[in-house]
Amino acid sequence: MYTYSVFLMYIFAKIVFIMEIQKITIRGGYGKDGSKEAVESLELRAGDIISIVGPTGCGKTTLINDIELFANCNTPSGRQILINDLPIPEDFSLDPSQHPIALISQHTNFLSDLPVGEFLTIHARIRGAENIEAVVNETIEFANQLTGEAILRETGMTELSGGQTRSLLIGDAVVIGNSPIILLDEIENAGIHKTKALELLKKYDKLFVFVTHDPTIALLSDSRVIMKNGAMQKVVQSNPHERPAAEALRKMDDAILYFRGLIREGQELNESHLEKLNQH
Ligand SMILES: Nc1ncnc2c1ncn2[C@@H]1O[C@H](COP(=O)(O)OP(=O)(O)O)[C@@H](O)[C@H]1O
Ligand SMILES: [Mg+2]
Repeated sequence: MYTYSVFLMYIFAKIVFIMEIQKITIRGGYGKDGSKEAVESLELRAGDIISIVGPTGCGKTTLINDIELFANCNTPSGRQILINDLPIPEDFSLDPSQHPIALISQHTNFLSDLPVGEFLTIHARIRGAENIEAVVNETIEFANQLTGEAILRETGMTELSGGQTRSLLIGDAVVIGNSPIILLDEIENAGIHKTKALELLKKYDKLFVFVTHDPTIALLSDSRVIMKNGAMQKVVQSNPHERPAAEALRKMDDAILYFRGLIREGQELNESHLEKLNQH
């Protein structure tokens, strides 16, 4: 009986520990050439939006994988992740449905061809949501604010476009998963409305980490981690002087989305469209 209650307390402590993530710390390891990372320690907090930038092959995906795996000096980079200042025990394992980190990658494809509504319903049920209908609707509404092409409940998961898929996964992680940490690996090529996404995400008290090549996303983040040769080189905090550049890029993005929409609809451009371009 005693051992059983100790066991239950252990499980309970684990769950509390993992669900109330306020802060994660990345302790620097080593770059690809084995030299120590310039950034020795980096703290990320709930409510932060962080970008990870750098050329292809510089170690961006490796860094977010270290976060997702709760690296404990046991990955090729030698990094250590602390949650609320504590390292994660080696034997730490969690029911995947309780994992506090959602990783949305470029290569997410669905094996299941369930309709969107059914897929989300199953996930909400696994997560123990109280009002399943409400969270499913909220997730679809959330996703539809990010993608230009509306997602319907009846659409098969494998029929969704890249942008719809990524938008739905972000909505699912935020609303149904309620994950405190959401990692996004190069989602921008998928035709997501980036500035809307960032505005929407800022309303949630979660940590969002974007691996990105997109200057708008990087400038609209709270800070950006500059990667080089497998190592964190530098952390740049966004500052108010950068706002005009961010705003100018945002307008360009909006213009591109607007014209993409027109062209997809089969419209021929005229003077009024061009005037609109100048206003953007
Ligand atoms: N700190 C590191 N130590 C050892 N190998 C690394 C490190 N960072 C990245 N790599 C390796 O470099 C390659 C490219 O890294 P990756 O994270 O995929 O780059 P990116 O996502 O920026 O394109 C991978 O094979 C990865 O394992
Ligand atoms: Mg990558």
